[in-house]
Amino acid sequence: MTESKSESEKEFEPKILGFLCNWCSYAGADLAGVSRNQYPPNVRVIRLMCSGRVDPNFVIDALIKGADGILILGCHLGDCHYGEGNYEAQANYKMVDKLLKFVKLDNRVTLDWVSAAEGTYFAKIVTDFTNKIRSLGPSPLSKKSNPSIEIQLKMKAVKQVVYNPRIRKLVGRERNITLNENVYEEIIDKDEFDLLLNETLEAEYVRNQIYFHLEESPKSVKEISNKMGIDKKIIFEQLLVLRQRSLIDLSEIKGYSPVYKVKK
Ligand code: FES
Repeated sequence: MTESKSESEKEFEPKILGFLCNWCSYAGADLAGVSRNQYPPNVRVIRLMCSGRVDPNFVIDALIKGADGILILGCHLGDCHYGEGNYEAQANYKMVDKLLKFVKLDNRVTLDWVSAAEGTYFAKIVTDFTNKIRSLGPSPLSKKSNPSIEIQLKMKAVKQVVYNPRIRKLVGRERNITLNENVYEEIIDKDEFDLLLNETLEAEYVRNQIYFHLEESPKSVKEISNKMGIDKKIIFEQLLVLRQRSLIDLSEIKGYSPVYKVKK
């Protein structure tokens, strides 16, 4: 009688979520099936009318719920059936990618373009991505990995950034800002925009993390800095912003150190 393999001995089979636009990528997947192109069965497909419909929240929520990888596929740039939906998908993906870099999960999400005639290419993308995720192993947020409180808190902070209407507005205006003149007849350079976006996302992410740490219990600048491994000066600057936004308050002074708490 052969011994059955233990869980750890079995090869890890990633759970991948695929968001496919109806008009190109889903048709490409269909063609791959009809043409009998071989590819791994690890992707669970959600069909959407356009890749621009993939809200960044869908991606963050799927990762929080334990998906090992996310594949977003749309029509090639210029071929979107709704005009510029895939440009929106590209801008949203850029934001999600930058945010996921903070938690080292960026290589678990990818965006690509597949036309209705590219069944073979669809099979290749799915095969390559599945192999990549397989080599990375289970997501640190999956049940198998027993996610740490630290990574859960970080993802909560990422999710909050994605919800922020100011940031959504900035991301949504990228093409307009970098291609057309603004009211001062200026065109913002793409690199300059990227720099601005990076700084904005990082500051918001750090602020949200501080907020959630204070929600657990009141803390001093030093305690927050130790928990997050971030310089005290940066923490102090972001605490000032949180106070200006009336989200936190002074709790008490311990020795010479002010202790902050979340405003109820
Ligand atoms: Fe396919 Fe918009 S319809 S990306």
